[in-house]
Amino acid sequence: MAYQHRGNYHIVGNSDLAALVKQSVDITEVIGQVVPLRRSGSRYLGLCPFHAEKTPSFHVDSENQFYHCFGCGAGGDVLSFVMKQQNLSFIEAVKYLADRYHIVLPQSSYTPNGKSSALFENAKKERLRLYETLAIAGDYFYQQLHHSEAGSVARAYLDKRGLPPSLVEAERLGYALDRWDGLAEHLERSGIPPELGTKAGLLARSNKGRYYDRFRNRLIFPILDDRGRLAAFGGRSLAEQTGSSAGGSRQPAANEPKYLNSPETPVYHKGRMLYQLARARQACAQVRQVIMVEGYMDLLAFHAKGFYRVVATLGTALTLQQVRLLRRMCDEVVLAYDADDAGEMAMLRALPLFLQEQLAISCVRFPEGMDPDDFLRKDGMDALETLLRAREDLGVYAIRKKLALWDGSLGGKSKVLSELKPILEGVGQEILRAEYLRLISEGLSLPQTAVAKQLLSDRKRAARGASSAAKTASCLSQTQSLEESILRAMIKYPALTEEVKASGVLDNFHSRQLRTIAETLLEAVRAPYDQFNMNHVYDILPQDELKELFTHFLMQSMDLIEAQVQMKDWLQALGERATRKTRAQLREALQQAELQGNTAQVRQLLTQIQHLCSAKKPAKGSTDNV
Ligand code: UTP
Ligand code: MN
Repeated sequence: MAYQHRGNYHIVGNSDLAALVKQSVDITEVIGQVVPLRRSGSRYLGLCPFHAEKTPSFHVDSENQFYHCFGCGAGGDVLSFVMKQQNLSFIEAVKYLADRYHIVLPQSSYTPNGKSSALFENAKKERLRLYETLAIAGDYFYQQLHHSEAGSVARAYLDKRGLPPSLVEAERLGYALDRWDGLAEHLERSGIPPELGTKAGLLARSNKGRYYDRFRNRLIFPILDDRGRLAAFGGRSLAEQTGSSAGGSRQPAANEPKYLNSPETPVYHKGRMLYQLARARQACAQVRQVIMVEGYMDLLAFHAKGFYRVVATLGTALTLQQVRLLRRMCDEVVLAYDADDAGEMAMLRALPLFLQEQLAISCVRFPEGMDPDDFLRKDGMDALETLLRAREDLGVYAIRKKLALWDGSLGGKSKVLSELKPILEGVGQEILRAEYLRLISEGLSLPQTAVAKQLLSDRKRAARGASSAAKTASCLSQTQSLEESILRAMIKYPALTEEVKASGVLDNFHSRQLRTIAETLLEAVRAPYDQFNMNHVYDILPQDELKELFTHFLMQSMDLIEAQVQMKDWLQALGERATRKTRAQLREALQQAELQGNTAQVRQLLTQIQHLCSAKKPAKGSTDNV
């Protein structure tokens, strides 16, 4: 590969693999599958999938194979799109596109940089072995549930919990024996080294170096990933069922948690997966609404009723990544959490994530102390549908809760207001914000203007520290128009890089980012210029932010006219700006030197200033103020 690049970016070592994929797919086709695009000249336009908007500012340039959103600043090549949109790593995005477009990747040593390709290969092999190990364990648990004597405890438990056999079968639920070495022995018999079993999250190692089963005396819930691969397990303790009467078996440890879940492994990322996500995605093709519950049992209670638009978190707090997964498949999430304090807290903690992603979020509340499983078994699906129809926007719910805490005093008003601030700060949608404001002003008997005013000041402050996209955007709006113009012209007319190089003007760039991009251009661009492919520059830019900025300029450069003529002016103007700056600095130093009576330095500075004035022939009208 011609471009051996200096940064730590993930392209290293896989760049030709990525190049192969990029050559083989068309960005407009890939993006067109998820974003409705319409043609506009040489570009395509659509609604940005990365932020909520009503008028399209998302551009796809089919000629150069880049996308860019003028609204939020996101931009890049087809791989960066897939990474961002599907939440994948670079390698995963390459694989994903290769899979989808049937690109045959070279089997091995596809890069001259053998080290990273070997790393990649090894990681891939390890993942395959982990899946294999998990599958063996899954079969084992399944067998124990159905065919072992000890499994009768679990079978009785399932019966008691009212899970229909068809569901138990469909989900391939299992049972982990009340033993320390049931699975460990089975894995050994199957030729799986204990280290692998440990890495898969199935075994643990004692201080004395013995491997033992993590899941013991538990009902086992297999957890599948997005592609239907068995990736992890959840296990519900059956300790209270067996108790001490279970035929001389070990006493269940008092501190055993009710649920035990696989730890994070190379194939299992709790924060990026949801229980039964794939099933729910299929189910919500028509009704784009998903119910979210807290546990395995709650979720399966829905399945037992033939309702599949439901997902569950995996024993951890909801993450932004999970909300993003949901946003891609539905338009609204309904939280159906336990009707207790913990459930309520968890719901309120989820609110800012949904506000941030602008995904509609509502909640249903069950009678005190009940969870969805209890409710469904007692009152049935029809009653739950009724609850669903009466669902309440989660923001409204949270506001009502806070308002209920108001003690009626004047001082209490500002206290409640300040507690409501985070919610209002987070709302992106005008209509929602208006509704929230109305509720609050009514609830506190305050004019809406007063509420808005108090909250607005904080909103602004919050917005200032915002995302990198926003930072990029604001960085662009600053006084860099000269530097930007030069950059745009270089991108549109690579031949102009010669002139820029000769002018030495890059040293005077104020923006580090723009300077790095310009320098990368100087480094990469080669004749014949009319055949130069800007993808090379994109690939070797050392940071993602720079890549985004670069695509931004690439898109803008389309509208450039007569850049060759203007380039001279821009270069000159930038040169003058630098001269003015140096002059000002010298003047400052001169003043200092005069004050200090340092005549030698005064003389030296005067010479420098004179030199500066004669060397750079001043443009008309700028013989001023030295
Ligand atoms: P709950 O305690 O609400 O259990 O935990 P549940 O779903 O009602 O289960 P049953 O009805 O008693 O069998 C909800 C979820 O929280 C996680 C699990 O993912 C569980 O499904 N959890 C709970 C744990 O990870 N560890 C625990 O010890 C308890
Ligand atoms: Mn329950």
